[in-house]
Amino acid sequence: MTDLRLLTPVQVGPYTLPNRVVMAPLTRNRAGANLAPTALNAEYYTQRASAGLIISEASQISPQGMGYPNTPGIYSAEQVEGWKLVTEAVHQAGGRIFLQLWHVGRISHSSLQPGGALPVAPSAIAPAGEAATYEGMAPFETPHALEVEEIAGIVEDYRKAAQNAMDAGFDGVEIHAANGYLIDQFLQDSTNQRTDAYGGSIENRTRFLLEVTEAVVSVWGGDRVGVRLAPTGTFNDMAGSQRAETFSYAVQALNRFGLAYLHLVEPRADLNPPAPELTSGYFRSLFEGTIISAGGYDRDSGNEVLEAGDADLIAYGRWFISNPDLPQRFAVNAELNEYDRSSFYGGDERGYIDYPTLELQTA
Ligand code: FNR
Repeated sequence: MTDLRLLTPVQVGPYTLPNRVVMAPLTRNRAGANLAPTALNAEYYTQRASAGLIISEASQISPQGMGYPNTPGIYSAEQVEGWKLVTEAVHQAGGRIFLQLWHVGRISHSSLQPGGALPVAPSAIAPAGEAATYEGMAPFETPHALEVEEIAGIVEDYRKAAQNAMDAGFDGVEIHAANGYLIDQFLQDSTNQRTDAYGGSIENRTRFLLEVTEAVVSVWGGDRVGVRLAPTGTFNDMAGSQRAETFSYAVQALNRFGLAYLHLVEPRADLNPPAPELTSGYFRSLFEGTIISAGGYDRDSGNEVLEAGDADLIAYGRWFISNPDLPQRFAVNAELNEYDRSSFYGGDERGYIDYPTLELQTA
């Protein structure tokens, strides 16, 4: 037995979760034909149904929102049917699962885009680095700067995708506004140099996030919608200034929606983070709701953050890949299976559904 705070129940929106151990959103590049989830994906998530909450891998809201090979979509009827396999199996196993809504913006490549078009972004600024395409890595291209009418179309794509997620049987959705993807590109000044209502001031740079959240909340209600932010992230060539001001404003502006939770990627997830003070503890007094914290936690470091009162739940990424029964392992303080990075992104059932549970190991 254990008195770990990680393993105590917690209320998230309308749901009473049995524990505070969240499965972080994890791209695994194993969708099936036409980017629809399959029985293999259902098996993977079901194995992890003892998580207090599963957040699905990021799922593109439109063909334009895609940036990597074989990531699942949430824009077609076939994809909705595929996701039903996942949600039904997870529910059968007693779990809860939110879908992560994704538009990658400039982190794409014309070879992945409808009609071979350029990726889109707030401004025509190419990221440093390379895109992952079906033909291997390729230098990032300079994206097309979105017209105002096009922005409205993308907000509508978010709304439709949120409706599709509901039709697919999810328990809620998380808006991916972290890690240098489209919403983060609007939020930060290194990627947003617009001079219209969507750029310039912090209020203007936050407008797109708030419009997307409004659209998604119109489908789900606030209490079944989460938002993920990475205030100190540098992934995908993010180099914004004014981070404390920008993210403090965004977090406070989100209060109006009565969200299920705010999900923060911690500075600890980066080797050398800008603004290292922007932890969940920093945002605690600004956000009037539940906070999930993610980034490089193990059992004890995660539990400490909960004990300190800086967050309400902890999301685990890599440890959940290799330990389908992570809450049980925490309960008995068992050793964890090591993860194999070579099978993180793409492949088959190996490194996906073949990590053993404790029960199997000790049988
Ligand atoms: C990720 N991460 C991630 N984040 C996100 O918001 N959407 C996603 O689809 C993914 N995909 C993804 C794939 C893989 C293989 C890894 C390792 C990571 C980031 C992830 O959710 C988490 O924030 C980090 O992994 C840090 O947590 P851990 O792994 O240290 O517990």
